[in-house]
Amino acid sequence: MFTALRSSDTALPLDLVSAIQELKRELNAVVLAHYYQESEIQDVADYIGDSLGLSRQAASTDADVIVFAGVHFMAETAKILNPNKLVLLPDLEAGCSLADSCPPDQFAAFKAVHPDHLVISYVNCTAAIKAMSDIICTSSNAVQIVQQIPAEQPIIFAPDKNLGRYVMAQTGRDLLLWDGSCIVHETFSERKLIDLKVQHPEAEVVAHPECEPTILRHAHFVGSTTALLNYTQQSPKQAFIVATESGILHQMQKQAPGKTYIPAPPTQNCACNECPYMRLNTLEKLYTAMKERSPEITLPEEVRVAALKPMERMLEMSA
Ligand code: 13P
Ligand code: SF4
Repeated sequence: MFTALRSSDTALPLDLVSAIQELKRELNAVVLAHYYQESEIQDVADYIGDSLGLSRQAASTDADVIVFAGVHFMAETAKILNPNKLVLLPDLEAGCSLADSCPPDQFAAFKAVHPDHLVISYVNCTAAIKAMSDIICTSSNAVQIVQQIPAEQPIIFAPDKNLGRYVMAQTGRDLLLWDGSCIVHETFSERKLIDLKVQHPEAEVVAHPECEPTILRHAHFVGSTTALLNYTQQSPKQAFIVATESGILHQMQKQAPGKTYIPAPPTQNCACNECPYMRLNTLEKLYTAMKERSPEITLPEEVRVAALKPMERMLEMSA
């Protein structure tokens, strides 16, 4: 039995972590968390990963309930893959500026002007955009997927222009880019990054490909959140300047605690390197979602079925 405290409208147990573990057993639930979640959520999760890892987990889990500690498009992706499971998102307002930068009606019009193009969409998009795509990719496999497409096939790449530019540079392919971006990864200041490099000449810069080219050109290593984590663990270097959402530092510190991790500086004096959408989820909301089995992610079946095809292609092409 837990002693209950009253918050504004919900009784919260004192030991939230134990209560969440108990609910996991009761519901046969799995908690999947993205690296950009606050540390407390990462520590209670059954699996922590980047978008590709989380999609793979969602595709293979035998749990009845998936509690997605991430943003809306990620929970939607889990629902696309698991129509018969209950998929919960602690806060339905946890959206994504990048997904929002690609409204489905505008994208449909853009696609209609380029009917000969194959559409490769970054997983950071709504189910409606996925349903209009031929293949989905993540930051882990975007280069690998584009490389598998015959050279003569024109490609639309949506919605992240920064990842698109990075893929173009890596593959030598000319991609038709949708003009979308992530507010968090566009926050870093090149001038402040250069100052930081001067102060820490021993540190290597690692960056996520959603960053602008002005930041990526200073990076010793570019990769998805999982790739950045693996790199900092395996590298003989002892210090890193990290240009991505700062939630990843928690796992970096846990997995190689002796090393130094310095968050790359935002242009403003703000915490803009924390994703405001990801951070809407809290341990309290995670508990309440499990307790109340709500908010639930639902999708019109025709959208889900259309969005599933390009997801499956991604999973096959990056197996
Ligand atoms: P990855 O999980 O692929 O590294 O992408 C980062 C991101 O912005 C998720 O919203
Ligand atoms: Fe979207 Fe950027 Fe937040 Fe990722 S970090 S969820 S791309 S706004």
